[in-house]
Amino acid sequence: MKDLRKNYTSGELIEGNVPSNPFELFTQWFEDASNAEGIVEPNAMVLTTVNIDAEPDSRIVLLKDLRKEAFVFYTNYESHKGQQIAQNGNCTLLFPWVKLERQVIVRGFASKVSEQESIAYFNSRPQSSRIGAWASSQSAPIQSREDLEQQLKDFETKYTDTAIPKPPHWGGFAVEPKEIEFWQGRPNRLHDRLVYR
Ligand SMILES: Cc1cc2nc3c(=O)[nH]c(=O)nc-3n(C[C@H](O)[C@H](O)[C@H](O)COP(=O)(O)O)c2cc1C
Repeated sequence: MKDLRKNYTSGELIEGNVPSNPFELFTQWFEDASNAEGIVEPNAMVLTTVNIDAEPDSRIVLLKDLRKEAFVFYTNYESHKGQQIAQNGNCTLLFPWVKLERQVIVRGFASKVSEQESIAYFNSRPQSSRIGAWASSQSAPIQSREDLEQQLKDFETKYTDTAIPKPPHWGGFAVEPKEIEFWQGRPNRLHDRLVYR
């Protein structure tokens, strides 16, 4: 581990050369990540929240929309992250685009998107994902994998001939940034870092 060392030479991030709007720069970098070979799930981001005792908690979620200057992801509102955000919306999103020697950190505040927006996105998901949202009580311990798969089968049977409604406990969060930090690796560990506030 201690011998793993790479000089970063892929790019630079100079204040005079970047758009004044951070969402414009984010969109450019997101396109770069989407077009780069070897970056799977360029929309994967590490969401860090805090619990009621101010202890941090992190996990990956997928960015599903960037709209009205907010970063949107979908989840189970009863999951650990859902409950933590309900208590304290302060959070960070981190995009680890290591292949491009880049990271973006969004520091902001999460709140639920409207019910209509969650329904519209839920209805656009494949049938298997919609059933899965009913079958899984995210973050809750289960008796066995078999029980979970049985739940899936039960919901598949229940919704064979009827439309699958969005579960009430499932929906989106929009993170409105207070600041967005862009990081580009540079040679000799003299990296470029720009923060938009
Ligand atoms: C590549 C990847 C993408 C994921 N995307 C999501 C997502 O969009 N929404 C989600 O709720 N969980 C997603 N997960 C699962 C979460 O990382 C996490 O395990 C789950 O949401 C429970 O988190 P919690 O118990 O901290 O609430 C993803 C995991 C990975 C590895």
